[in-house]
Amino acid sequence: MTLSHPAKLRSVVVGLGCYLPPRILSNADLEKTLDTTDEWIVQRTGIRQRHIAGEDERTSTLGLRAAKAALADAGLSGADIDLVIVATSTPDYTFPSVATQIQAGLGMTHGVAFDLQAVCSGFVFAVTTADKFLTSGSHKRALVIGAETFSRLLDWNDRTTCVLFGDGAGAIVLEAQEGDGTIADRGVLTAHLRSDGRYRDKLYVDGGPSSTRTTGHLKMEGREVFRHAVAMVTDVVQAGFAATGTTAEDLSWFVPHQANRRIIDASAEKLGIAPQKVVITVDLHGNTSAASVPLALCVARDDGRIKPGDLVMIEAMGGGFTWGAALIRW
Ligand code: UT7
Repeated sequence: MTLSHPAKLRSVVVGLGCYLPPRILSNADLEKTLDTTDEWIVQRTGIRQRHIAGEDERTSTLGLRAAKAALADAGLSGADIDLVIVATSTPDYTFPSVATQIQAGLGMTHGVAFDLQAVCSGFVFAVTTADKFLTSGSHKRALVIGAETFSRLLDWNDRTTCVLFGDGAGAIVLEAQEGDGTIADRGVLTAHLRSDGRYRDKLYVDGGPSSTRTTGHLKMEGREVFRHAVAMVTDVVQAGFAATGTTAEDLSWFVPHQANRRIIDASAEKLGIAPQKVVITVDLHGNTSAASVPLALCVARDDGRIKPGDLVMIEAMGGGFTWGAALIRW
């Protein structure tokens, strides 16, 4: 007798694209205006430079560029997409959403588009949300975008926060395809999301339409966030391993949220993931919040590391706190 598994819908990655604004701000540039040093920033964070959106570039501009690149990579157009989810905490406007602007930018007049706000965890939350739509059978193809202009939320006189963040966007196209229900399937194999609102004051923006009626600036108790980050990240990654019966050894690539090199290294070590499997882009991009994971996926795909069939773990944590991980067979 042969064992057979029931067919199961999977959300398979069929396209990936990114966009970084051309202007680069180096640590040396920051030294000119701020009481900081390249040495401090590199030693404490691993960041060497970040990209900054131009005056004429908004989150929707960056996101649309990434979306078009992902669609081109998939050989598809807006006509083939019926779900657009944009993870962002830096929308162009309080409303309408960035997602509907990107939908219009792609010439789409069908399907559904909405924003999702989970700060730095936004992309992992958006992939997980899209996966629920696709595997329910209600939608066929999703464009999942992480796009941010955090440079617009920063107090450029606050050295404890402004050196950490950058702008950018990344997008993937997920398509519902039938798998056989095993972890050999391509697509999202498992996803685990968590949040805990008690930590609001550790990482927040001190403004908004219903409080100050302004945009506000990013505030962070960096040391406190750092203290929680490794435990939170390892919790959801281990949940992903447990749900699929996989281990760190089975992973091809670990693609973490790029906030701080020290957090990434400590998480990988605690999880037993070999350093050569860890994708690092924080040196080049800084922390681009919801864009950091898809940007890192792009870098590792473009340089030939991530290939079809690879087992890829993505994870992130951020304001809220929110945190999550997803295991994807590429
Ligand atoms: O995306 C998710 C959320 N974000 C994160 O994951 C960030 C988590 N936190 C961190 O990455 C780190 O806590 C930071 C990089 C933000 C800070 O590193 P740290 O090792 O925790 O430093 P610290 O905050 O304890 O500050 C150490 C010293 C302080 O001086 P004193 O009080 O010891 O005299 C700071 O004032 O470093 C000083 N400092 C700086 N010095 C030079 C803070 N920022 C800077 C700076 N340049 N840019």
